[in-house]
Amino acid sequence: MATVPLSPSSGADPAVARDEVLARLADANANAAVLLVELETAREELEARNRQLDEARRVAEESARCKTVFLANMSHELRTPLNAIIGYSELLLEDPAIAAQRDASADLDRIRTAGLYLLTLIGDVLDLSKIEAGGMTLHLEPVPVGPAVEAAVALARPLMAVNRNTFHVALPPDGASVMADPTRLRQCLLNLLSNAAKFTTDGDVWLDVSADVTHARLQVRDTGIGIAPEQMHLLFQSFVQVGDRHRTTGGTGLGLVISQKLARLMGGDVTAVSAANAGSTFTLSIPLAASEPARTARS
Ligand SMILES: Nc1ncnc2c1ncn2[C@@H]1O[C@H](COP(=O)(O)OP(=O)(O)OP(=O)(O)O)[C@@H](O)[C@H]1O
Ligand SMILES: [Mg+2]
Repeated sequence: MATVPLSPSSGADPAVARDEVLARLADANANAAVLLVELETAREELEARNRQLDEARRVAEESARCKTVFLANMSHELRTPLNAIIGYSELLLEDPAIAAQRDASADLDRIRTAGLYLLTLIGDVLDLSKIEAGGMTLHLEPVPVGPAVEAAVALARPLMAVNRNTFHVALPPDGASVMADPTRLRQCLLNLLSNAAKFTTDGDVWLDVSADVTHARLQVRDTGIGIAPEQMHLLFQSFVQVGDRHRTTGGTGLGLVISQKLARLMGGDVTAVSAANAGSTFTLSIPLAASEPARTARS
């Protein structure tokens, strides 16, 4: 805004000088009034924009909720017949008359494998959608680390054998417990172990458990193909598989993102260190259980 000199120049007629000052003051006032109007208009526009943003957020939240409800219903509708397909293929596989026909049992095995794959995929999509819509509920309770790790290890052993990997497990020496949802903890650990098994061939996979003051650290290390530095940023993204490897390995690119989100909901995290052709280390950290009572966490 222009400043108004309030003292007239020396030697000028005082009346003229006063009129000049008054005229300038009137100008300045008019300018200020225009600025005020502009300011008020800008404020109203900002408020309108904020209201639009609020509305857009509300619509987005509502559609995320509807998507989750839809997926939950659909997944139930899909899972029921899928379980029947898997169940019947397993029954037929056990039939000695069919087992004797090599082609038939190979086909049945393919049906069963495809069914199991679809079942996992449906579960993963539903999990991710629930987490993103803030509808994932976890039941946190003190979980003894040793038995939880053993349960995941038992499920992972057959996966290690597929690519002839040697599996080394170092169980925690003491009876430490973490504050976690037991099913989700096993899911996270199993995801990391299945990745190590999948992306390593004729190598080694280690599972080491340690703890610091606040968290237990479940570390899955492998001697597999690793990840190049320029691709590390692609980890933990939904439906993203790094490099061209998805052509030779099955998977959807959901396991890591779900594991990390679940770990964070439990107060922990999943982090990765890797180098191309030099193996990877994925660390799942989960808060140690102090004397906290069981509680519920929601995304
Ligand atoms: N231990 C590992 N070694 C090398 N690459 C890995 C390892 N773990 C994950 N990756 C890379 O990260 C990508 C994402 O992993 P993620 O577990 O999310 O998906 P996926 O295993 O391909 O499929 P899904 O777990 O959904 O079945 C993988 O496709 C792979 O490229
Ligand atoms: Mg995976």
